[in-house]
Amino acid sequence: MTVKQLCCQCSMHKLRGLYLILLLLPCISCAEESRPSDSLSTSTTEETTATAAPAPEINAAYVATSFECKAPVGLPDYYVRPDNPMTHEKVDLGRKLFFDPDLSVDRSMSCATCHAPDKGWTNGAAFAKGVSGKMGRRNVPSILNAAYYQSLFWDGRAGSLETQALGPILNPDEMGMPSAQALLERLQQHREYPELFLIAFEDGLTTTNIAKALASYQRTIVAGNSPYDRFVAGDKNALSPSAQRGLNLFLDRRKTKCIICHEPPTFTTIFYHNLGVGMEEEHPDLGRYEFTKIESNKGFFKVPTMRDVVDTAPYMHDGSIATLEEVMEFYDRGGIPNPHLSKEMRGRLNLTKQEKADLVTFMVEGLTSDDKPTP
Ligand code: HEC
Ligand code: HEC
Repeated sequence: MTVKQLCCQCSMHKLRGLYLILLLLPCISCAEESRPSDSLSTSTTEETTATAAPAPEINAAYVATSFECKAPVGLPDYYVRPDNPMTHEKVDLGRKLFFDPDLSVDRSMSCATCHAPDKGWTNGAAFAKGVSGKMGRRNVPSILNAAYYQSLFWDGRAGSLETQALGPILNPDEMGMPSAQALLERLQQHREYPELFLIAFEDGLTTTNIAKALASYQRTIVAGNSPYDRFVAGDKNALSPSAQRGLNLFLDRRKTKCIICHEPPTFTTIFYHNLGVGMEEEHPDLGRYEFTKIESNKGFFKVPTMRDVVDTAPYMHDGSIATLEEVMEFYDRGGIPNPHLSKEMRGRLNLTKQEKADLVTFMVEGLTSDDKPTP
């Protein structure tokens, strides 16, 4: 097997602060060979296993062409798992899988039903209904720039796009396939997939490779090049005066504290915080606690990115806030009081009407990408 050239060198050193920890993660070298592996971790509830598949067909003539993963303007290179280097064949296959309703039990829904490109890679609603007709309990996050996250889902229970990918397919309340084996058999009977998998992977069609192809495609859904990026690169006219005032407020660690949690360039620290969203309910979604069982994690959710945030309304893990103006009112009030409220959220902000409007202008005008990925 040959992989002509691999790309996406790990350059996490460009990321600031907490991201430095990621330096410790393995990088891919340009000349490294890819090895098919069936060893995806399976330690979390929605992470799914590649179950023992029948001995896969091997494509002895397998040749992969490297995919030049270009980091968007303003963002550093993203991390690619060494056991799943990017190739054109995998990305193309992953795209086909992502938009294919055949991956759901009744062939009614694809990943894109909930992560629709024309709705900011989300579904534009507070929640989503899966094949069972049951309404999900969490807002659909955008997959835009998910390539940058080492923790996925609102509670961070999946550690990579590879370990996340089969989760929704096998979730009875999402795409509802009864088992990984059933998914494999469905694709084995398909008139195109067996061949496409042999083109993309030396060991052809396996559940692990379904996850790898989906992950590779999703890593291409990245966007930067917003007026904010051009402003920090020196174009002082890239932001209107109102957006510039909003940016200064956003960066103010003492007054608004936005930047403490929504840190550039990704506009998230991928840490978890409790803003009190939904905590007034009788049986609130306890977020990160449901995964870690650590008392102090109750009501903690992953900090979402602010990039292209104008496209992803309604907001918060429960879709309970309809507009960015209302999000500003929510922060101005200091969130919703509860015993685990993050310390950065304590106290009212007392922002003026103009300051709230400037912050919204910064998010809408400043953080909307001019290079949105097309499917
Ligand atoms: C029925 C709607 C639905 C379908 C279909 C669906 N998803 Fe999702 N997706 C969600 C919801 C809801 C979440 C958040 C769940 C949570 O945090 O507990 C999510 C989360 C994610 C995330 C994590 C994003 C982040 O920022 O943490 C990724 C990546 C993702 N989905 C990819 C996929 C892929 C790939 C498919 C197809 C195999 C898919 N989804 C199918 C609703 C859906
Ligand atoms: C203590 C950390 C923290 C601070 C400070 C903070 N945020 Fe957030 N932000 C979060 C978390 C966590 C969420 C998701 C909360 C949830 O759904 O329960 C969020 C959600 C949002 C959302 C909704 C995004 C979406 O996709 O649903 C917006 C918009 C937002 N924040 C803007 C801001 C602005 C503007 C400021 C400054 C005024 C700010 N944030 C300050 C942590 C923080």
